[in-house]
Amino acid sequence: MKPGYPVIAMFVGVFAFSAAIAGEDARQLVKLPEMMQQHMMANMRDHLAAINEILAHMAKDELDKAADVAENRLGMSSLKSHGAGHMSRFMPEGMRQAGTGMHRAASRFSLKAQEGELLPAYRALSDITSACVACHSGYRIK
Ligand code: HEC
Repeated sequence: MKPGYPVIAMFVGVFAFSAAIAGEDARQLVKLPEMMQQHMMANMRDHLAAINEILAHMAKDELDKAADVAENRLGMSSLKSHGAGHMSRFMPEGMRQAGTGMHRAASRFSLKAQEGELLPAYRALSDITSACVACHSGYRIK
């Protein structure tokens, strides 16, 4: 088994690399004004930081803290501070829906986490990250 793994890993690596050099990027390019691009990327980095904090709280069984981070940084309560309404006007419908889906999933997670059960909270958390992935696989801004 030991010698097998590196060989498999190598094949997977070569495969991913050849897809990359084929330059296939089916994502739709969404043109945003420069200021808005920077604002959006700053939001994105905070989204990732928030997910990381949520996971850290869950690992310590601090579901109420995880719930607060989700609602305030990713959930419906975060929309104003993100300037989401302003930015969503520049987005195609599918992208807007992915964004709304992510904010809704975060608020649903927050409620689930407040119930205090880890497993359902993890399920709800993966709905948030699925929304991140859905938007990322469909759209780019550069
Ligand atoms: C509505 C669409 C959308 C959603 C939802 C979304 N993102 Fe993004 N994100 C983007 C786009 C578009 C980019 C830029 C990708 C590109 O142009 O190549 C991006 C970039 C990023 C980056 C790179 C930031 C940088 O400075 O380079 C991170 C990190 C990120 N997203 C994290 C997340 C996380 C975590 C979530 C979910 C909690 C999330 N995003 C949800 C659209 C989205």
